[in-house]
Amino acid sequence: MIEFRNVSKTYKNGTHALENINLKVEDGEFVYIMGPTGSGKSTLIKLLDGEEVPSGGSVIVNNVNVGRLRKSKVYLYRRKIGVVFQDYRLLPEKTVFENVAYALEVLDMPNDKIRKRTREVLKLVDLADKSNVKPRELSGGQQQRVAIARAIAKRPAILIADEPTGNLDPSMTDEMITLLEKINREEKTTLLVVTHNDVMVEYHPKRTIRIASGHIVNDGTHGDLFYKQGLGTIKRPAAQEKEKDKEVEQTLEVKEEPREKDKMTESEAQDQVISEITMQLDAIKELSEGDRHE
Ligand SMILES: Nc1ncnc2c1ncn2[C@@H]1O[C@H](COP(=O)(O)OP(=O)(O)OP(=O)(O)O)[C@@H](O)[C@H]1O
Ligand SMILES: [Mg+2]
Repeated sequence: MIEFRNVSKTYKNGTHALENINLKVEDGEFVYIMGPTGSGKSTLIKLLDGEEVPSGGSVIVNNVNVGRLRKSKVYLYRRKIGVVFQDYRLLPEKTVFENVAYALEVLDMPNDKIRKRTREVLKLVDLADKSNVKPRELSGGQQQRVAIARAIAKRPAILIADEPTGNLDPSMTDEMITLLEKINREEKTTLLVVTHNDVMVEYHPKRTIRIASGHIVNDGTHGDLFYKQGLGTIKRPAAQEKEKDKEVEQTLEVKEEPREKDKMTESEAQDQVISEITMQLDAIKELSEGDRHE
């Protein structure tokens, strides 16, 4: 189960991205997250996958307090979470099959199991016949499906998709959502789907959490007025305005990782995977040492 308890997030520059969020998502649910640009959707997801820590309150996922995880343990925790990024982040020099298999090699799975699971998920996303082609030979929608296959290969308990239909035409959008429904049904994966796509939500109605200005303004299956009003980000309190420039300077000094790399080179992507493996091994070592002390 996912639970947000009185969660707030204020970024270093003083932006209140989320305020007092209370939320429960049960295992196996399929939930849309909607809201105007800048309302806090991605922040909510980053708190969920451990990229950001809450400024107040707690984020609990299957009894793990995510904000309290040590950095080395975040990578272990992320094995339970699959994230599909809008820009796919596929490895260009690897085939479709290799892209998916790579995500499992990182987990140190035996080869025969990797091949079996890779075939299985490629079939699920209807790309079995594209196994041996490179990502550049695929359409945008097909690349997105590879990204989904890769995210679900490790059987994450939770799959988060940020705008999975952002680049698709209406018929592909319908196919995509049908695929996500299938994953939810057949793999029993909890789905959180960030979307701006009103039509999709209308044709495939589900629980919809609507966020505006960092608050949940509606949580239900039916539409509401708040979303249509397009409320913006919470305004900084006047007292904070004076500190603004100073804070901005400080924020600039702390160079943060770009949120979404447009075109990650093969070697950059490999570096990232290798650093994840190293951290995972460290974390496993740390865990097993902890066991020995107990
Ligand atoms: N790393 C950051 N540092 C400072 N402020 C941030 C950071 N990331 C997001 N924000 C701010 O927090 C607020 C919420 O941003 P968030 O990315 O969560 O919005 P969103 O709902 O995902 O928007 P979109 O639909 O455009 O993706 C915005 O005002 C944004 O400018
Ligand atoms: Mg966003």
